[in-house]
Amino acid sequence: MSAFLLEWVNLVIRWAHLVVGIGWIGTSFYFIALDLGLRKREGMPEGVYGTAWEVHGGGFYHVQKYLVAPKTLPPDLIWFKWEAYLTWVTGFGLLIVQYYVHARAFLINPAVMPLLPAQAVVISVLSLGAGWLIYDRICKSPLGRNPTLLAVLVFVLIVFAAYVYGNVFSGRGAFIHVGAFVGTIMAVNVFGLIIPNQKKITASLLAGRAPDPALGAQGKQRSVHNNYLTLPVLVLMVSAHYPMLFSHPHSWLVVALILVIGGSARHLLNRHDAGDPLAKIWWTLPVMAVGLAAAIWLTAPQRIDTTGVVVSDGEVLAILGKHCATCHAPRPSHDGFDAPPKGVVLLTIDDVVRNREQVLAQTVHGDAMPLGNETEMTTAERAALGAFLMSR
Ligand code: HEC
Repeated sequence: MSAFLLEWVNLVIRWAHLVVGIGWIGTSFYFIALDLGLRKREGMPEGVYGTAWEVHGGGFYHVQKYLVAPKTLPPDLIWFKWEAYLTWVTGFGLLIVQYYVHARAFLINPAVMPLLPAQAVVISVLSLGAGWLIYDRICKSPLGRNPTLLAVLVFVLIVFAAYVYGNVFSGRGAFIHVGAFVGTIMAVNVFGLIIPNQKKITASLLAGRAPDPALGAQGKQRSVHNNYLTLPVLVLMVSAHYPMLFSHPHSWLVVALILVIGGSARHLLNRHDAGDPLAKIWWTLPVMAVGLAAAIWLTAPQRIDTTGVVVSDGEVLAILGKHCATCHAPRPSHDGFDAPPKGVVLLTIDDVVRNREQVLAQTVHGDAMPLGNETEMTTAERAALGAFLMSR
């Protein structure tokens, strides 16, 4: 397939991924807020635990929650599951068209581990499967009975995955894999546990039997994890746009901070939905602020000493020609591209000065460019380009 058509396939899958992902996280947000907003009111029908009044789009809604299913269920009962399944399917599709097809460019950095594309793909697929299996085992083990301990273990598992990926893939590839690792856990929680358990519970109730309480408890445990992972997973998914996140040699620490910041933000929103006063939840704000400050400090660019360094226009043009121009030209000579990526052309001094901030971020402070370091750009060349741009 031509690079141009592949780019369209990529766009269409990405579009679909965003749509179903918004649907999934949107329904998750909605139902958590609804659940925490339920109140007991006078005159509730039998079996109803609480009700909520809502207004939206010109109408009023009165929703009531049954803890135990009503005697008969309507045939048009609405299930919310396809959002989750399709988010995973389209996400995996994107992983294929973006990272597997262009493994050399996006997934592999020979300086981290000299993998062949096929090896990188096998590691990717196996690691996502293994991640789910380990997570599921931990949840079902006796350790899983203590929610706080379990939360700590899940946190450690994700940070450990970030550490391993960081030592196997390129920085960018590592971060998207931590996102895929977490997204896989979340989607399989819905597909493999929450929905099947709900179906078993519903079947027991309809047959007049008391459902096994373990089924509900298990579903609840996984829903809580999914709830707290929604915000971190979003940052991981857009991390490719921010080389500062993954260019750090200890980028797993950045992942740990993202989990803390996103988890705290979700907690704040949850408790706000439940009607808690600020006095009870204020502590999440300093936690987020300190986490953010630590992340900013950790990812701050190394200072480049430019005193006395003089880099001529000719040297910069040579660097661009050797390391950037195969892709960043109006008609790229690189096989993988029909047009300059992101519309960024880097042939002249004017071009590179115009894109100064991005070039500093991608190539000098980070090593996201040249892509996959295909042309083996050296640290000295990065420093020279940096010194030149800083003096502008
Ligand atoms: C093998 C092809 C290739 C080479 C060589 C390459 N780039 Fe890129 N560049 C890309 C691709 C692909 C993107 C778009 C990345 C994405 O989709 O996030 C990109 C994006 C960029 C961007 C825009 C980033 C943004 O998101 O705003 C900058 C700036 C950049 N490259 C600079 C450079 C510099 C400087 C060099 C040379 C030192 C270089 N690139 C070498 C392929 C390449």
